[in-house]
Parts: sequence; structure tokens; C-alpha cells
Amino acid sequence: MSTHIGAKRGDIASTVLMPGDPLRAKYIAETYLDDVVNYSSVRNMLGFTGTYKGKRISVQGSGMGIPSLAIYTTEMIQEFGVNTIYRVGSCGAMSPDVKIRDIILGQAGTTDSSIIANTFGPGIYYSPIADFELLDSAYHTAKDSGLTPKVGNIFAADRFYNDEIDMKKLTDYGVIATEMETSGLYLLAAKHHIRALTILTVSDHLLTGEKTTAKERETSFDEMIRLSLDTAIANIKE
Ligand code: HPA
Repeated sequence: MSTHIGAKRGDIASTVLMPGDPLRAKYIAETYLDDVVNYSSVRNMLGFTGTYKGKRISVQGSGMGIPSLAIYTTEMIQEFGVNTIYRVGSCGAMSPDVKIRDIILGQAGTTDSSIIANTFGPGIYYSPIADFELLDSAYHTAKDSGLTPKVGNIFAADRFYNDEIDMKKLTDYGVIATEMETSGLYLLAAKHHIRALTILTVSDHLLTGEKTTAKERETSFDEMIRLSLDTAIANIKE
């Protein structure tokens, strides 16, 4: 048992899918995995282990934002030996090239979080990036199943509600979408020498104001999960 995860060493697979919402973790486990065990319910931040096409995979809720994600990520790596994490979630599109319901692969993470400055000190603006092998594998797995993922820089905002950040400028510099976790995940992956990739669906569009319906969210969520699981089992490292 770690501070925030009520599991024993060995209960969590080396590869983990990490949605923000713990009920999404439950949905993924119950819908896609066989022989599922619920290993933690601490703070209702549910975690499950099961098998997908015969391979052992875990699904762990992260909560919203870098601080919450960092707790679960750090404990999964340090206490449970996790070596590969896929963040699966939703995002707001920031680029005219990205459409509602698109699947996005996070190539790099920009952020207004202090986590970068607090790690490296003044004058160093470290650039957290995805694991290239996972990114390459997810991209080709998506293409092979008829999807056309967008790949690019993701802005992890510290605040969902914020009217102070110049989003247009970020878009002008090639940022394609916003959520609240990716650069924190990639920084921690680099720190602990593990592999990480963010796979997202676009739930809303910041430029057009469009939002997905509940039904559309379900369909694009399922596409994203199948892609994540197929990528995950092709890249397991024990
Ligand atoms: N901002 C931050 N996180 C999000 C958004 C957004 O617009 N959409 C989905 N997750």
C-alpha cells in the first residue's frame, strides 16, 4: 500500500492506462478487460488490473490537473514498478486544423505550471516530450485502423477557468490542444526513466465553441481506448 494507492506490490501491471476520471477507469476495465480486479478505491480514485487480448494491463484514475496526476504517477512508478503510462483523456482544440472528436497524440507538453521552473530553477525552460517509440506505434496503429490522429504540442493549463493566458499566441506557435496534465506526466516520465504517451479526444473546440454531445463523447472515447489498448499490448516491457 502506498500513501494514495491501496494495492500490494505486484497488483499493478507494468503498463497503465490513466484517465482523469476514476469512473472512466472503471468503465474501461469493465468494458475492455478480462479477469478484472479492483486493486484500489482509496479516495474513490479507482484502479483496476485485468487482461486485454491476454496481456496484463492496469487502469488507474489520475484526477484532474498536474498535482493530482503527479501523486498517482509517482507512486505507481516508485512503489509498484510501473514503466509505461498512457494518459487517456479529453481536450479542448486550439487549432483550426483540429476537429471536434479528433484523436490527438501529444508529442510535447507546454505548461503554465510551476513544475518545470521548480524542477530546473530559473533560466531553464525544459521541454517535456512523449516517448518516441510509443508515439510512433500509436500513430501507425491508428492509421492502420483507419483513424487520422493529429500529433502536436499540448498545453497543460493549471486552471480550467482562466482568461489571462494568451491562447491565440500559443496557437500561433503551433499548440494544437489544451488539457491539464500532459507536461507533468512527461516531466515525471523523464525524471524516473519510464515511457509515457498522452492520447486524447477533442471534447470541445476553443475556436468554434463546438462541444461534443454525450453520445459523440462515448464513441470517440471508445475509439481512443481501443487505440490505447492496442498500442499498449504491442509495447509491453516487463
Ligand atoms: N481546458 C482544459 N482542459 C480541458 C478542456 C479545456 O478546454 N477541454 C477538455 N479538457
